[in-house]
Amino acid sequence: MKNLSKEKIVDILNSGDEKQFITLLEIADEIRRKYVGDMVFVRAIIEFSNFCTCNCAYCGIRAGNKKIQRYRMEIDEIVETALMAFKNGFGTVVLQSGEDSYYNADKIIQIIKGIKSVTNLKITLSIGEREFDELKAFKQTGADRYLIKHETSDADLYAKLHPQGGLKKRLECMKQIKSLGYELGSGAMIGIPGQSVGSIADDILLFNEFDVDMIGIGPYIAHSETPLFKEFSGYNYNIDIFMQKVMALTRIINPKANIPATTAYASVVKNGRINALNAGANVVMLNVTPQKYKAMYEIYPDKICLAAQEPLTLEALRFDLATISRLVQ
Ligand code: 5AD
Repeated sequence: MKNLSKEKIVDILNSGDEKQFITLLEIADEIRRKYVGDMVFVRAIIEFSNFCTCNCAYCGIRAGNKKIQRYRMEIDEIVETALMAFKNGFGTVVLQSGEDSYYNADKIIQIIKGIKSVTNLKITLSIGEREFDELKAFKQTGADRYLIKHETSDADLYAKLHPQGGLKKRLECMKQIKSLGYELGSGAMIGIPGQSVGSIADDILLFNEFDVDMIGIGPYIAHSETPLFKEFSGYNYNIDIFMQKVMALTRIINPKANIPATTAYASVVKNGRINALNAGANVVMLNVTPQKYKAMYEIYPDKICLAAQEPLTLEALRFDLATISRLVQ
């Protein structure tokens, strides 16, 4: 099963066969249980700056969006937020921002040192493409993981979406991260205007080729203040079913990977988080960004982490996941 061909993956993604769909989910769930167990790993994400020099055609915090209010958290505030997450029982913190050169290597190093001096949190950086020497210095300072999504494996589509650099550069950066001994996180968006099902099959196979440790896949969500908005006229498939298939295939082909139930999926589909966990996912990220900044980190609209019913605490999540017999770390 691990060696599914591109043709077979495309077949499954295009198929309307309900029995095949159920079998696929069962296989993915079994592989998930066998390789990564019943524990759901929870990560705290801190979105510490929404400044960005990039102009990605889909992203609400793109440099060209003049309508959003920008914010930056200072080093102390980031360290304090991480400390709070640690005290609340989290074991991992994901530090995410736009590509913001205000946080030069020195500042990022101070943040890593600050967090590591008061907690034993694992640190995941998600701060975009950086020079090899910087990546190396962050690793040596104590960063454990690095998240950088390839977004789409279709080089032409990638170039259209990312005026600042091509797919080749992104994949090169992923290779560098891996070579430095980080756990590498990547991911893709599903349902981008102009994206073929074949390229989604390539996305799933690429994770395996690059030996990706963490795979975050979410639906593309149209943001009105971006150029891609006018090209989006709905998904070409039932996004819930399609996402479950993508998740299941990703688990089957990458049995040991950590696969989050992404916020984007939960934002588009009511039961997205549970559906993802039943289709191979084993990670949940909870947003611990200070409330006053949260709404400003609007990479796409209607993020679930802004909703009142969102389980913000590990306790609430534990309660939710007990309904599907899953433990929370
Ligand atoms: N819809 C869905 N996901 C998006 N991201 C950015 N913009 C959007 C959007 N409009 C995702 C990308 C990025 C991550 C931080 O958020 O996958 O890597």
